Amino acid sequence: MEGVIDAHTRDLLTRHPGFDWTVTEFVRVVDARLPPRVFLRHCPELGQDVTTPSGVPVALQLLGSDPATLAANAEQALRLGAREIDLNFGCPAKLVNRHDGGASLLRDPCRVHAAVAAVYDAVGNEVPVTAKIRLGFSHRRLALDCAKAAEDGGASRLVVHARTRDEGYRPPAHWEWIGRIRRHLRIPVVANGDIWSLEDYWKARTLSGCRDVMLGRGALADPWLAPRIRHWLATGEQLSATPWQARAAILADFAALQRTTLPDRVVTSLIKQWLNHMRQRDAEAARRFQALKRINELETLLDGLCSERSECKRSCLEPA
Ligand SMILES: Cc1cc2nc3c(=O)[nH]c(=O)nc-3n(C[C@H](O)[C@H](O)[C@H](O)COP(=O)(O)O)c2cc1C
Repeated sequence: MEGVIDAHTRDLLTRHPGFDWTVTEFVRVVDARLPPRVFLRHCPELGQDVTTPSGVPVALQLLGSDPATLAANAEQALRLGAREIDLNFGCPAKLVNRHDGGASLLRDPCRVHAAVAAVYDAVGNEVPVTAKIRLGFSHRRLALDCAKAAEDGGASRLVVHARTRDEGYRPPAHWEWIGRIRRHLRIPVVANGDIWSLEDYWKARTLSGCRDVMLGRGALADPWLAPRIRHWLATGEQLSATPWQARAAILADFAALQRTTLPDRVVTSLIKQWLNHMRQRDAEAARRFQALKRINELETLLDGLCSERSECKRSCLEPA
């Protein structure tokens, strides 16, 4: 997720078993082949077997509209070691859409097909090409056609965010629409949108019929959501709610990782950004966010997350 889930976040979120794969923030492709440093910035894991430190594969995501430029950049990514190329047809940002990228291609399934086919022709013999779509731009009438276009173009997996571009992030996510798409395709379809809890996970699976789901904001709000799902699937047992200390510990670890490359002022705003995601679903995170949102000094912020630093410990959740 652009501006939110970088390599450090992927590292932290995959330290407990839960995720099967992760995806980079999108690499924006316009009209040129990008230099290696751009790919390495988005995906430092290219130098590390393209997995997170705990071994979870990382797909490299491209966002663009010109098939030839997408293909040239997919080749460049492949040369740098990418193991999966994911194409973004879901981004709703006005700037991106105005420049004809992300969800704007969903207005014309032929363009989705052309983009996927060009990338598939360029790298599809070497690595899987996958795609992510929404249900459409301003309506859902082309949802099945766009999904089929991605499949026919060579996508080997399709993630569907169950909203149109115009619906932004407004609930509800229309999980039953993902089921329609799944029944229309042969490739695996992955359900995405508004999965914040174990209950949401099960509803999304039931309504979509998908075996796999993709977590976005829910994994930031509760970094133990994926392990929670994994544990429940394996044992039928529900883990206890994520305690504040565990949330604080992940934020402290995040700060330590980010501080190795970024100035404290940037790290401070990144911590507040993640805490802002956590507060959507956790009363203590909401209380701490209110108390700390105007703090601009990193050490003070970290002290405010844990009254006692020793209190911040990474805990394994217990069965409820
Ligand atoms: C801040 C932000 C950045 C995002 N960046 C990306 C991105 O780079 N690539 C992508 O495929 N989706 C991106 N998304 C969309 C999410 O992957 C996901 O499809 C969407 O948030 C719905 O799922 P959720 O309800 O689980 O968050 C982004 C979403 C947000 C809120």
